[in-house]
Amino acid sequence: MSIQLHIHSSREAAVRTVALEMATLIRNKAHAVLGLATGATPIPLYQELVRLHHEEGLSFRQVTTFNLDEYLGLESTHPETYWNFMHRNFFDHIDIPAANIYLPSSHVAESELVSHCLAYEEAIRAAGGIDYQILGIGRTGHIGFNEPGSPADSITRRIHLDAITRQDAASAFGGLEHVPTHAITMGCGTILAARHISLMAFGEGKAEIVRRAVREPVTDQVSASFLQNHPCAHFHLDPASASAL
Ligand code: GLP
Repeated sequence: MSIQLHIHSSREAAVRTVALEMATLIRNKAHAVLGLATGATPIPLYQELVRLHHEEGLSFRQVTTFNLDEYLGLESTHPETYWNFMHRNFFDHIDIPAANIYLPSSHVAESELVSHCLAYEEAIRAAGGIDYQILGIGRTGHIGFNEPGSPADSITRRIHLDAITRQDAASAFGGLEHVPTHAITMGCGTILAARHISLMAFGEGKAEIVRRAVREPVTDQVSASFLQNHPCAHFHLDPASASAL
């Protein structure tokens, strides 16, 4: 097993390929289950899926989605919750029923944290498991918010965010002091249970972490390296993010 590399001529070409694979799944499977990611990287993918919905009749009425992660400790009206991000960039523009959309909560009480996370795992199982998982990659090598040290078999849980991850989010939050310290994330094990995984990474800033994930031995210090052991993990890169391979 090894990661299958796709080095596209541009990020637009990468996004078109991934969107087409998702559309094919959705058209061919009665109840497709998608695993979705946030960050800047998948925004053009969501734009392309919205275009396919409007211009080519792609319907999400039967689709169920599970997002990878959510910040903890934010009011539901905060613009940076991943719930708001996903609605703003994707869900508000397609025909997916609200009941089919799953994200971890941004404001779950401490006493309910464990049961909330277990219920998330159970909801994924009850939906039949994830058919197609979208991933980005953080500078720490995280997938979802699985920071260095996350075990390969970890499940949905609360995680303390790495300093680098919080720095990368600082401008969106108007300063480091406003960035949450914790999040809820699907575990590496949750992600690795998906039947097909497409990680997208674009730009020179991702080149070194992509190289470590693909070329270095598997390590819990780079959780994306666990994808080397997945039977159907694909990296969709542009020339810049592939430049260190
Ligand atoms: C956040 C998200 C990750 C995402 C990463 C990279 O940490 N939790 O899922 O992959 O950001 O973001 P970007 O795509 O903006 O580089």
